[in-house]
Amino acid sequence: MRRKMAAGNWKMNGTAAALAELGALAEMLPDDAPDVVICPPAPLLYRACEIARPHGIGIGAQDCHAEDKGAFTGDISAPMIADTGARYVIVGHSERRDAHEETNSDVRAKARAAWAAGLTAILCIGESLEDREAANTLDIIAGQLSGSLPDDSTATNIVIAYEPIWAIGTGKVPTLEQIEEVHDFIRAKLISRFGDTIGDAIPLLYGGSVKPDNAATIFRAKNVDGALVGGASLKAADFAPIVAAL
Ligand code: G3P
Repeated sequence: MRRKMAAGNWKMNGTAAALAELGALAEMLPDDAPDVVICPPAPLLYRACEIARPHGIGIGAQDCHAEDKGAFTGDISAPMIADTGARYVIVGHSERRDAHEETNSDVRAKARAAWAAGLTAILCIGESLEDREAANTLDIIAGQLSGSLPDDSTATNIVIAYEPIWAIGTGKVPTLEQIEEVHDFIRAKLISRFGDTIGDAIPLLYGGSVKPDNAATIFRAKNVDGALVGGASLKAADFAPIVAAL
């Protein structure tokens, strides 16, 4: 049985007051909840860990630098993230690949830095609308997997999130068939690269406009082990039903 996971990416939203949502979320989660992870903005990590730890909610950062330390003004390193008590870090989100021009090899280096600090990397991949309309989706996904997923990935050090860029924050959700096609393709690639045991055990999340009213449908897709949720993770009242649908 693969691990199921619901992860929330708060992006650049929330000040300390928003951490009340973590406590509220904890109250709404069932005892047998799957892995639940919240990735708040970096300044909230310490406090988020303190609040979340007693409830078994994992905390993650939204990015890390590939180096442990140095003259990189404004960046944060994986050891710094681990030091807050966080256990996860998102790498390669399309917003960073785009706005910060991160390449596949940058993302691979960040995943390795995350591992060296004992963190699990949540690696994001996904095609643009242009790629999809040109029928290039699977080629793009294959390229991102071979370029940004490190060779020594295991079932515990990596989680892959498929986030079609055109579905992020737009309310446009791919059809179940479209989601399944990509997730089945990723699964096959993982098995051929890492073998049956590891390839079959790496969790695959879907991300892009997941909401309380579409989560159950999306989770019916084969090879979807959970979701990486943006907007609907900001409020416990929205995120809890998504977790419950898993
Ligand atoms: O990383 C999560 C994300 O990009 C999806 O955002 O707001 O469409 O759920 P949203």
